[in-house]
Amino acid sequence: MTLLTDKKIILGVTGSIAAYKSVELASKLTQAGALVDVIMTDAATKFVAPLTFQSVTGRKAFTDLWGDEAHVIHVGLGESADVLVIAPATANTMAKIAHGLADDLLSVTALAARCPILIAPAMDGGMYAHPATQSNEKILRARGIIFVGPAEGRMASGLSGKGRMVEPQELLGHIRYTLSRGGAFANKKVVVTAGGTQEDIDPVRFISNHSSGKQGFAVAQAALDRGADVTLITAPTNQIAPIGVNLINVRSADDMGDAVLRAVADAEVLIMAAAVADFKPEASAEQKIKRGAITTYQLQLTKTIDILSAVAEQKEKTGKPKIVVGFAAETQNLIDNAREKVLKKKLSLIVANDVSAKDAGFFVDTNRVTIIDAGGGAQTLPLMSKAEVAEAVCERVERLLS
Ligand code: PMT
Repeated sequence: MTLLTDKKIILGVTGSIAAYKSVELASKLTQAGALVDVIMTDAATKFVAPLTFQSVTGRKAFTDLWGDEAHVIHVGLGESADVLVIAPATANTMAKIAHGLADDLLSVTALAARCPILIAPAMDGGMYAHPATQSNEKILRARGIIFVGPAEGRMASGLSGKGRMVEPQELLGHIRYTLSRGGAFANKKVVVTAGGTQEDIDPVRFISNHSSGKQGFAVAQAALDRGADVTLITAPTNQIAPIGVNLINVRSADDMGDAVLRAVADAEVLIMAAAVADFKPEASAEQKIKRGAITTYQLQLTKTIDILSAVAEQKEKTGKPKIVVGFAAETQNLIDNAREKVLKKKLSLIVANDVSAKDAGFFVDTNRVTIIDAGGGAQTLPLMSKAEVAEAVCERVERLLS
């Protein structure tokens, strides 16, 4: 089960060349388990065939040839949907919805909808900037309709400007975020860390580790999916931040320590998936260290801040955060070492992973973890995706919170 499993999503598609992007969106939503009902305007069918959507969603794509069920279909669709997404939305459709016009299945359904509505505009830059379109957007926003984009870039006209429909992946993130609000972590601040910190040797070199940030970003997404307000504090990675997180970029263990201690002051939960350096160069050289005639080079290292221990100290004074989860990256004696860390760092839970395994730990998309609680109780999970591990961790946190 994921957030999108069995969610009823109406995808309204209007007459823009960007309609082809909605096929990908419909496919991604369907793959994530959603039930996607597509409603196409007449103009949209000139760009993409209804059969294309039917093929990717496995469900009927509605057009203005409504058939016998015409008199009730919009009410049924509109009232039962979890979210209505209009992507691409032309200036014409925006205008119709802003002014309550209802002359096709999509605009009637928008009037009947009782769920959140997301609009992803797509039109020429001049049309989007026109006072009429801007005023319609203002009306729609004031009614609580969520706008995603448009983005800047090259448009079908060959001109560049603001009017491109956002990419399906980004839209998917906004749909996910919208659906997640009100979940089990609603109104709870969750701080998540990710990535491997970088400790400077000189302006061009640093000490780091193999963390890709995948596990931490997956935890941030899982917490968001449960409705949390998520602050993601990350060392440099190539990961794309989930839509809706408050992202804080840091580099070193010290920077991450400062950011974490500030962020947890009003947080319910901290989940430390970051691989934080335990040692840093005693001093970082101001200029690049030259190779010259040197044959060996001694680097003096000193201990970094132990962030989780500092959090435990702060928690003793403030009571925040209520739940603290660490990760243990081990290459031997996995369970014993993790049990020692859960006590030493005063954690609610620790998630132990064997980083010497080929299919778990650093960089790969899968992980094999044992979740250990403060009493030493262990729950060993099979090999699974990092997203599934993140779900399992958040499930345990949910139980502790309740
Ligand atoms: O990013 P990926 O490529 O997806 O890889 C995921 C991961 C292997 C990095 C992740 O699953 C993981 O194990 N993260 C913890 C890595 C780590 O630093 O483990 P540790 O056993 O050295 O530290 C134990 C805990 O103390 C960790 O929660 C760590 O964040 C924290 N710590 C460590 C050092 C330090 N100075 N301060 C800390 O707070």
